[in-house]
Amino acid sequence: MCGIVGITSSKEVTSRIIGSLKKLEYRGYDSAGIATISENNINEVKCEGRVNELEKNVNQIKLSGTIGIGHVRWATHGKPSTINAHPHSSENVSVVHNGIIENSTILKKILEKKGYKFKSQTDTEVIVHLVTDYLKKNNLKDTIIKVLKKLHGSFALGIIFKDQPDLIIGARRGSPLAVGYGPDEHYLGSDSYALKSMTNKISYLNDGEFCILKKDQVEFFDSDGIKTNKEVLNLSKDEQNYEKDQYKYFMAKEIDEQPVTIKNCINEYIDKHNNEINIYNFPWKITDISSVVLIGCGTAYHSCLVAKYWFEQNTNMDVSVDIASEFRYRKIKFKQNALYIFVSQSGETADTFAALDLCKKNEVKTCAIVNVVESSIARDADLVLPIHCGPEIGVASTKAFLGQMLVLYLLCTKISYEQKTISNKTYQNKIKDLLLLSKCAKETLNTDNKIHNLGKDFANSKGSMFLGRGYSYPIALEGALKLKELAYVHAEGYPAGEMKHGPLALIEEGMPVVVIAPRDEHYKKTISNMQEVISRGAKVLLITNKSTDEIFSENIWEQIEVENISNELLPFLTTIPLQKLAYYSALDKGFDIDKPRNLAKSVTVE
Ligand code: G6P
Repeated sequence: MCGIVGITSSKEVTSRIIGSLKKLEYRGYDSAGIATISENNINEVKCEGRVNELEKNVNQIKLSGTIGIGHVRWATHGKPSTINAHPHSSENVSVVHNGIIENSTILKKILEKKGYKFKSQTDTEVIVHLVTDYLKKNNLKDTIIKVLKKLHGSFALGIIFKDQPDLIIGARRGSPLAVGYGPDEHYLGSDSYALKSMTNKISYLNDGEFCILKKDQVEFFDSDGIKTNKEVLNLSKDEQNYEKDQYKYFMAKEIDEQPVTIKNCINEYIDKHNNEINIYNFPWKITDISSVVLIGCGTAYHSCLVAKYWFEQNTNMDVSVDIASEFRYRKIKFKQNALYIFVSQSGETADTFAALDLCKKNEVKTCAIVNVVESSIARDADLVLPIHCGPEIGVASTKAFLGQMLVLYLLCTKISYEQKTISNKTYQNKIKDLLLLSKCAKETLNTDNKIHNLGKDFANSKGSMFLGRGYSYPIALEGALKLKELAYVHAEGYPAGEMKHGPLALIEEGMPVVVIAPRDEHYKKTISNMQEVISRGAKVLLITNKSTDEIFSENIWEQIEVENISNELLPFLTTIPLQKLAYYSALDKGFDIDKPRNLAKSVTVE
C-alpha cells in the first residue's frame, strides 16, 4: 500500500506535493518520488528512503511545475529502490499507483512482445506502457476506460501526460482516492488528511470510477465513461495541527494521551446527567440483534478478541471474532439478525473493507468502529461509531486500541442493558466504573520509570513470551505484537493455560516472560502457570493490579501494578505498561519508533 497525491494549478506545486507526501508517509516509507511537467517535459525525482530525502533532491535540482504527482511506497512488487520507486514514466506518461495489479505478469509479456522496455520490477510499469499503447489509437478518455478494464486487482491511480500539461487522471478500484477543490486548482490524494492543508472541500471516488482533473474543472465518470455526479463534503479542520510537541516520537505522545482520549470518548457516549449510554442513530431494534461477529486486522483484531469476552459475559448472544483477511474468503452463512462489526483505526484497511463489502452484498447489518470518520469503511457501513481519539500517527496502534475496546465495551453494555441480560443496577455500576477509567489510566502511566529500565532486557533477548488468561489473553497477544513491531524481537502471546501443550519447551534460563495476571477470576490459575515458567528458568515480569494481598509465588523478576477498577475494565490498564515496554525496548535499540521497518500504518493491499 502506498500514498498518492496530485495537484493541477496555475501556481507552483512541488513543495505542496512534498508536504502532502509527508502526511501520507503512514501508508509507506520505503521510497518516494515526484513527477512534474515543466518546459514541455516530464521531470521525475525518486529516491529510496523517506520524503525528507526526496525533498533534498528536489530542492537540489530546483524541480518546478504547475502540475505534478507524488508517491510514497510500501513495496509489493520489487524491492525498495530508486528504480522501483514511483512515479513510473515513459516519454509522455507518468503514473503513481497504490494497490496491486494481479495480471501484471501476463500484461508485461504482451507489452514486451510489442517492443516496450521495462525498467523496474514493479507491477505499476505495465500501466504506463498500456496507456502509451492505447493512446496511439484512442482519445484520452477511451484510453483510460480501456486500460482500466484490462487491469485486474486493486488500484488508486494518478496519471499525467506531457502533452496535456494541466490534466490529471485519477482512478479507483478497491484502494481509496479523494479529490480536493481549491481556488483555481484541484487535488488528488489517497485520503483527505493529505489534502487538508490545502482544502477542506473533498469528494471521494466510488469504486470503479475515474476522474479528469484540470485546474478549473473536475469531471467524474463510471467505468464505462458515463458522467457521474459527486457530492462535495466540507471537512472539519480540527485535526490539522497534530504535532509531536515535546515528545521524541508520536507513539510516546499517543500513549500519554490515553487518559484524555478515553475521557473524550466517554463524553461522547455517556450522558452523565442521566447515567445513560447513548448509541446514536442505531438503525435497528436492539432486541432484534441475536449475535455479533467482530472483524478486524492487527491490533484492531485484538480489541475484538477482548470484546468477545465482554459480549459472552453480559449478553446471551453468540459471538464470533474473525481476522478480516480470513473472513473475506470463507463460506460464511450470513445471518439477518447478526450484527457484523468492523473495527479499524484508519477505516481504510483493504481486508477489513473487503469483508465489509462482502457483508453489504449479503445485505446484513453492518457497524463500523473507526477513528477516521471520513474513511471508506465509515462511509460504507450502516452504523458508524467513532472512537474519538484524534489522529494516530505512530504506525503501532496505541490510543486507538484503547478507543476501540472502549466503544466495543460501551456498545456491549448498552445492548446487554436493552436486552435485559444485565439489571439496571449492574448497568449503572458499569457506567460508574467507566467514569473512573480515565483517572485510573492516568495513574497507571506512572509505572513508566520502572518499565524504562526493563526495555533493555527485552530488546536484547532472543525472544520472549506474553501470557494471560481470559481478558488478559488478547492483551498478551497485543503486548507481543507491540514488541515484535517496534523492537524486532520475536515475541509470542499465548494463553497461560496452554503453555504445557508445547511452548513450555521454549523456556530457557533467563528468557524474559511477561505474565498478565490481574486479580480477577483467573488470577490463581495464571499464577500457577507463572510458577511453571519460573521453575524452568524464565525471568518473569508480572503485570497485575494493586492489592495488599501477598502474591503466592517466589522468584518473580519484576512486578508492575496497575490501578484498581472493575475486572472487566482491567484490560485497558494492563495494556499501558505493555505499550511502554515495547516503546522502551525499541528506544534502547535506537529504532525509528513511529515508522518500524517493513510496516505501514494503513494497509491498503491484501
Ligand atoms: C497495520 C498497522 C496496525 C493496525 C492494522 C489494522 O498493520 O500497523 O497497527 O492494527 O494495520 O489497521 P486498522 O487501521 O484497520 O485498525
